Amino acid sequence: MKKIIMRCVAVLGLLFCTGALAFGQSADQSNLGKVLVLYYSYSENANTEKVAEIIRGLTDADIVKVEPAASFPEMEYRQFTQWAKEQQRQGIYPSIRDLNVDIASYDFIFVGTPVWWGLPSLPITTLLRQTDFEGKPLAAFSTAQGGPGSAVSDIEKQAKNALIRSGVNFNNVAGDRQISEKVATWVRSLQK
Ligand SMILES: Cc1cc2nc3c(=O)[nH]c(=O)nc-3n(C[C@H](O)[C@H](O)[C@H](O)COP(=O)(O)O)c2cc1C
Repeated sequence: MKKIIMRCVAVLGLLFCTGALAFGQSADQSNLGKVLVLYYSYSENANTEKVAEIIRGLTDADIVKVEPAASFPEMEYRQFTQWAKEQQRQGIYPSIRDLNVDIASYDFIFVGTPVWWGLPSLPITTLLRQTDFEGKPLAAFSTAQGGPGSAVSDIEKQAKNALIRSGVNFNNVAGDRQISEKVATWVRSLQK
């Protein structure tokens, strides 16, 4: 009898512990609800994608890369930066591929971009021009070499019908060993 009672106590203890663990995990992860990350990334380092992936890990988000409908012209990086500058100067923004997402089905949206000449990248500008964020909370992030410009605040200004939450720029993502902690601190600050 004593053995049976001991076993019951052990099983109950185990159930309690795993339940508490599962609860702890979900509380740690996020209380942002169903999360969508929309981002663009261009460089080989894929800095913006790295941040997007960290957010995915923290929030169990769906993550979608915004892609130009036609690939950007193949050219060396430095030359590309000049090409992109000229596109911005002339206000030429590329068509983007269908995102295949239903904004209405999400509770929280992240929009991430590399900084291009102080501004959001071309595909993200197109995204903002053609998307209605339907009253959803939205937090912007950018990645830069060191000159973040106004990319985050531009997204915040241009995101139609979004409830803007505090955005952030991350410098030099590829060389930052603390990037995961920095992103986690920011994401935690967005939770109610
Ligand atoms: C067209 C272009 C313009 C850029 N302009 C800036 C800039 O104004 N300030 C800056 O700090 N970095 C600038 N960069 C560097 C990128 O913002 C930075 O490397 C970013 O983290 C790249 O993100 P990705 O790897 O997701 O493409 C520029 C890069 C490109 C391609």
